Amino acid sequence: MNVVQIIARKRDQRELTEAEICQLVEGYTSGAIADYQMSAWAMAVLLNGMTFDETVALTRAMLESGDRLSWPDSLPVVDKHSTGGIGDKVSIPLAPMLACCGVNVPMISGRGLGPTGGTLDKLESIPGFRTDLSVAEITAQVEKTGCVITGATPEIAPADRKLYALRDVTGTVESIPLITASILSKKLAAGLDALVLDVKFGSGAFMKSIEQASCLARSLVAVGKELGVRTCALLTDMNQVLGSYAGNAIEVAESIELLKGNVAEDLESVTVELGAVLLEQVSPQGLEANRKALRESVSSGRALARFQQMVEQQQGQLGDFRHQVIAEIVADRPGYLLEIDGRAIGYAKIELGAGRKKMEDCLDLEVGIQQVARVGEELTEGQAVFRILSPGTVASEKRERAIRLLQDAFRIGTVEPQPQPLIRQVLVE
Ligand code: URA
Repeated sequence: MNVVQIIARKRDQRELTEAEICQLVEGYTSGAIADYQMSAWAMAVLLNGMTFDETVALTRAMLESGDRLSWPDSLPVVDKHSTGGIGDKVSIPLAPMLACCGVNVPMISGRGLGPTGGTLDKLESIPGFRTDLSVAEITAQVEKTGCVITGATPEIAPADRKLYALRDVTGTVESIPLITASILSKKLAAGLDALVLDVKFGSGAFMKSIEQASCLARSLVAVGKELGVRTCALLTDMNQVLGSYAGNAIEVAESIELLKGNVAEDLESVTVELGAVLLEQVSPQGLEANRKALRESVSSGRALARFQQMVEQQQGQLGDFRHQVIAEIVADRPGYLLEIDGRAIGYAKIELGAGRKKMEDCLDLEVGIQQVARVGEELTEGQAVFRILSPGTVASEKRERAIRLLQDAFRIGTVEPQPQPLIRQVLVE
């Protein structure tokens, strides 16, 4: 069947065979299928969806478009992926914490685009830190330290690299089967035994409603399992900054504080729960025992030492992060903090230069935002809700635009809101 016929079948809501999906993915990766043909197909998928079998076939074909890491049969190999949020720095402390609990963690991470941040950008705020390790370097580091956080090499899931860039400019990102195949093809290429997904919902997340997030989580868990990896997911609330800080260097500093045991409660509980559910997939000893082991890795100082070792091996030089408050956004009346608009914080970060509008934008890794008050807190007039932090000055027009966004990023009312749990659901097949 030729490409036009395959596209037309999807347009007419007919199910594609595994062979047809492989033909598309191989043809697109090699350059035999043009961008305009692949974007027509992606739009047909966005509008008509894909069956479970089609999604599995697409994920497998994208995974097989490149290299896969392989590991000796020693320790279980695990990873965590987040669909992204504001202030979501969980990967940074979790990788060394897991490595202290008897598993290997080859974490292949990404950069931020739009309101949410990316782990690689955050780690690159550490002077010298390399995020471009080769497959041989990744393998050697994991064998030595038990964890690595680096970017995808060009050999890992090249089909996704090309297709994601195309989807980004053709309005076809928001398709659950396409997101499933994109995330899993990159993650499973690391040769995992188990994977935990932090699927976020809310104003600061890619998925705004819990229903959409739950649909994505179910798709990821089922497809991951079908491809032979024990996959589980947590649905977590992303309606305010996770922890207290959003930025790059400032999030690394907050991650180090977590590893020192000085933590924001929400950040610690999401980190520990993701780790505990993940460890349960490879060595079932009960969630409580896993939580205890993860917390012990912190209280003993081992996780911090492991993090320092990882940074050193990736040629980073940790130093102190110093900043000053360059603006404070305060409550204009007394009352309860009812709501935060996470997306607006993401846009304020972009205005300040801490986030990207386009993939080629350069970042200011030092500037950041602190969320001082939490949803549900009772505020007095003039009490700080947000602060903008930077080691130096920031151009006044950028600062003013960010202040305006942050002034509109919260709502105060007179009725105390009901507290909402941070972790809403755990999905394990
Ligand atoms: N993140 C990915 O890696 N892929 C998507 O399609 C969406 C978010």
